[in-house]
Amino acid sequence: MRQDLFAQRVNPDVPSALSGLFSPDDDPRALSFAAGSPREDLFPVAAMQTAFHTAIAAGGAHLFQYQTAQGNPALRAKLAARIGKWGQVATTADNVVLTVGGQQAIELVAKALLNVGDEVAVEVPTYIGALAAFDLYQPTYHAVPLQADGLDLNRLEDTLKRHPKIKLLYTVPDYHNPTGITMSMAKRQQLVELANRYNFIILEDSPYRDLGYTHAPLPAIKHFDTEGRVVFVSSLSKILMPGLRTGWLVADDDLLTAILRGRMASDLEANNVVHAAINAYLEANDLDAHVAALRASYRGQCSALVQALTTYFPDEVAFTHPDGGFFDWVTLPQNVDAAALLTQAAIPQAHVSYVSSTNFYPARDVHNSLRLCFTGLTPAEIDAGMRRLGAVVKAAVREGRPVV
Ligand SMILES: Cc1ncc(COP(=O)(O)O)c(C=O)c1O
Repeated sequence: MRQDLFAQRVNPDVPSALSGLFSPDDDPRALSFAAGSPREDLFPVAAMQTAFHTAIAAGGAHLFQYQTAQGNPALRAKLAARIGKWGQVATTADNVVLTVGGQQAIELVAKALLNVGDEVAVEVPTYIGALAAFDLYQPTYHAVPLQADGLDLNRLEDTLKRHPKIKLLYTVPDYHNPTGITMSMAKRQQLVELANRYNFIILEDSPYRDLGYTHAPLPAIKHFDTEGRVVFVSSLSKILMPGLRTGWLVADDDLLTAILRGRMASDLEANNVVHAAINAYLEANDLDAHVAALRASYRGQCSALVQALTTYFPDEVAFTHPDGGFFDWVTLPQNVDAAALLTQAAIPQAHVSYVSSTNFYPARDVHNSLRLCFTGLTPAEIDAGMRRLGAVVKAAVREGRPVV
């Protein structure tokens, strides 16, 4: 391959943060805790099939025509109403853009804001897909640690004082990927105040906000936005089906215009046929009831994981106790390398895969943690997988040296 002709943004020597999500293990016992896949048997396939028929019957040939860069107005209105109800964001269809998954929304914001070398703050660990999107624009990263109630705002402010040119902050405030942490209400408001004071944009990425197991969603960060500095991003991937490839964003004024300009350059417009079908689905079905059923299932899967980690993992290992979302974050002793453990023991011996921590840090410099996704597996599979993983983790901890 003529790699010498490639752009630096796809430098083949630096693997994408998204690589390695799907591990090659064809053993029949293989259990993947790696990709953030929702539970497939809960997909409302029949209702969606009916919705496609309804949408096509109603829309006819015109449905298959080019439409608008922003996407289906009726669906945008429903999503605006939804985030108004559950996130207290006062917005309308005019400020909503339908995207190809939340992933494209992140990439569009990066495209609208980032020149090569521009400064971006991210909480760490952070969503690997966001790093993959930002990496294409070759920014300078500043990593800000998370606390149990979300981003460490003191550390963020120190960073902003030292680097006043930071123009974008990326955060996943609700049931964070990969840790499951949720940002407190007070911090949401304070974060917007910092953005106003230090002049940066907040990219609020919240695909898990409906999937809380103990309480209703908190108001979005965008609720506190007074200057149009927050771009709110969400997705139907985790609450309906990822194959619909439907995400959405809420943005204001010139930023909305800039995002739409970037979107037209990438794909002109999102998939109108799919969006008409989703709109028909939402008219005929109760999405909140569907989400409640997901929550009931995921709550049980989450407690099966926490229970199994408690039972099978040694005391030297720490893990989060998520109250929503898809993930648990497991921290091994400093001297155990999670990536080496994955390839040398977890996959070949335990037939269990996960995503190791280096992927979640822009500097790829934290080696002893890992992310487990519990939503794609039954409680029995979770128990079996953690029993096997616990055994190899115990062995690695006992050896007391890096697995290399
Ligand atoms: C935090 C976060 N943002 C965005 C996405 C993108 O999802 P999708 O493009 O399927 O909407 C994911 C998927 O795992 C995610 O965890």
